[in-house]
Amino acid sequence: MNILIVGSGAREHAIAKAVNRSTAKKTLYCLGTNQNPGLQSLCFDLQTIDINNNKTISDYAVKNKINLAIIGPENPLANGVSDSLMSLGVKVVGPTKDLAKIESSKSFARKLFQQTMPDVNPKHSVFESMNGVQRFLQELGSDFVIKYDGLAGGKGVKVSGDHLHSHQEALEYCDQLIKKGGSFIIEEKLIGEEFSLMSFCDGVSLKHMPAVQDHKRAFDGDLGPNTGGMGTYSDANHSLPFLTNGEIKEAQKINETAAAALKEKSGVGYKGVLYGGFMATSTGVKLIEYNARLGDPEAMNVLTLLDTDFIDICLGITDGVLNNKKISFLKKASVCKYAVPNGYPNKPIKEKEISTEKIKNKDGLHFASVNIKENKLMLAGSRAVAVVATASTIAAAEAVAEKEICNIAGPLFHRKDIGTTALVEKKVNHMKEIR
Ligand code: AMP
Ligand code: GLY
Repeated sequence: MNILIVGSGAREHAIAKAVNRSTAKKTLYCLGTNQNPGLQSLCFDLQTIDINNNKTISDYAVKNKINLAIIGPENPLANGVSDSLMSLGVKVVGPTKDLAKIESSKSFARKLFQQTMPDVNPKHSVFESMNGVQRFLQELGSDFVIKYDGLAGGKGVKVSGDHLHSHQEALEYCDQLIKKGGSFIIEEKLIGEEFSLMSFCDGVSLKHMPAVQDHKRAFDGDLGPNTGGMGTYSDANHSLPFLTNGEIKEAQKINETAAAALKEKSGVGYKGVLYGGFMATSTGVKLIEYNARLGDPEAMNVLTLLDTDFIDICLGITDGVLNNKKISFLKKASVCKYAVPNGYPNKPIKEKEISTEKIKNKDGLHFASVNIKENKLMLAGSRAVAVVATASTIAAAEAVAEKEICNIAGPLFHRKDIGTTALVEKKVNHMKEIR
């Protein structure tokens, strides 16, 4: 089988590792944006191209007789790369353009739930002009969130208290969004703890993965600017220490409702990974957003724990037979930490050398935004390298991950607190307080 991975970050390195572990006979290909040495070593061919150009990807798929494609990032999905590849007879893990709107259009996702499960939506309203903005802000008071209604790499969302400190600042941000020509959503700010629950979906059936908590802020103590995600953890029981069993079930039910609603809308069904971003609140689990793909870093936690042949799962998704598959994950906790360039996320340094020579467990090492140049590992300007460790407890996995990440040399920093007992307990206590 010729398998194409689109994307070249640490998530895609984790996908390639999982594909490589499969006993199926396969040749791996990758189309990405950097010469990721992890992907280089696992793939027969890795080309750096514009991954938002469907034609380039389709031509490559034909030339290399690709049978199965796995799409990592959101932009190619939003551009309809799955539609292009499917029309050539390629099996694709990743939804069609219409269905990827669950991520690429925040108003689409809210509308879908307003019709099927309105209780999971925060109070919200979609705007295309300033008409009614002031009135709605007054209704929400001091707890509000303003979101650009499209893909913005996590940078289109501004939260009151964090990024916006008054209605005046809110109005100015709305004005900016209108000038950009986009619609936007204003919604109630949800108070609680965030978590990610991803499910494999074949259009009808879902298989849920362990819940994961990401850390978006750049610095220890959940301080500083938002990033793509600095690190993640998951627990041995596949829930999280601050969640009840009921809350995990609620999140799973929300993903199932989303899949059923998408199937009803399109007739075809959503084939890929449905990633629900949730907030556990005092009034139940609420929906923050949907992603149409595996999370980054979340993919590294769940694919490291995956105890089932990944190619078999991918074919279960594309062939609509996921229900017949028994999918299991190791009953272990996992911690993933990212080493990022100094200055990240606002002014990351680039083109500096780093070294992962001293890493002890190469299986836990995942390369992201780095390039191999003249045999040197060079920073390419975003999150650079991630390490994953598993153990029987989160604290034990954290201790290993922390030791390992300190073995990476170069002008980098990472969050020391992700997965530590102190931070996990803070989250548990936060939920106790608000419940
Ligand atoms: P999104 O791009 O929708 O995931 O938003 C990015 C981040 O903004 C989320 O991870 C949350 O931390 C925050 N956020 C988004 N919507 C809300 C909301 N309604 N209430 C509180 N925080 C939110
Ligand atoms: N971890 C956040 C994301 O993948 O969008």
